[in-house]
Amino acid sequence: MASTAGTSGPSPQVPAHIAIIMDGNGRWAVRRGLARADGHRQGVLALKTIVKAARARDIRYLTVYAFSTENWRRPQAEIDLLMGLLVEFLASEVDELRAQGVRLAVIGHPEELPASCQGALASGLARTAQGQDLVLTLALNYGSRREIVDAARQLAEEAQTGLIAPDEITDQVFSQHLYTRRLPDPDLIIRPSGEWRLSNFLLWQAAYAEIYSTEVLWPDFDAQELDRAIAAYQRRDRRFGALGGQESQA
Ligand code: FPP
Repeated sequence: MASTAGTSGPSPQVPAHIAIIMDGNGRWAVRRGLARADGHRQGVLALKTIVKAARARDIRYLTVYAFSTENWRRPQAEIDLLMGLLVEFLASEVDELRAQGVRLAVIGHPEELPASCQGALASGLARTAQGQDLVLTLALNYGSRREIVDAARQLAEEAQTGLIAPDEITDQVFSQHLYTRRLPDPDLIIRPSGEWRLSNFLLWQAAYAEIYSTEVLWPDFDAQELDRAIAAYQRRDRRFGALGGQESQA
């Protein structure tokens, strides 16, 4: 696991798991006098670039916040556009993802997405299932609080039926009931567009993640920006609650 507690000192290695809040599509479009839809389209291009760049840098897990449980509050036309872009992305990229050794995964409640997305999602997951090099997880209809509540409910049911005793519920057991049970915790969470909020993304999993924010808007986020984020991560002293390298020798 990437987040093994007790590891300390600077992290010269690339993060195993990068999670990205793809923010700023709307602002990117407005600044150019374009429609928000154009910002989202450009956001998809940025995603394609970053998947390739992550793969080339030996990042093993890339998780992107594509649609949150709160995004249903947007105008229906924007929701429809985002769903359409998801279907287009899957239809046009799956062969390329497969060729790159990418395995697609989903967290959230994708079964509540429109019927038009279901076939493309199922086929994308099935056709990339053998990918060995990078797990690309799309957070779709994802909300961290809902994820935690889902886990609590499932554990309560297991306790009620005698499958687990309350004192057997540890943080590892809890983690195994989250949607991310097959993923290590993120090492680095990137939020473009100058915001410092987690916005209901991976709240539990972010316990020891390094957070990186940049003024660059998501549609402008490219391989060079990814390198800047990784370099910032490598300068951090990850202590996981212990003392840092120099302090522990003092
Ligand atoms: C936030 O920008 C972005 C989103 C809510 C959607 C992110 C989606 C994409 C990049 C494209 C679709 C994804 C896939 C997987 C095909 P914002 O619109 O809130 O930006 P703003 O804060 O500047 O308005």
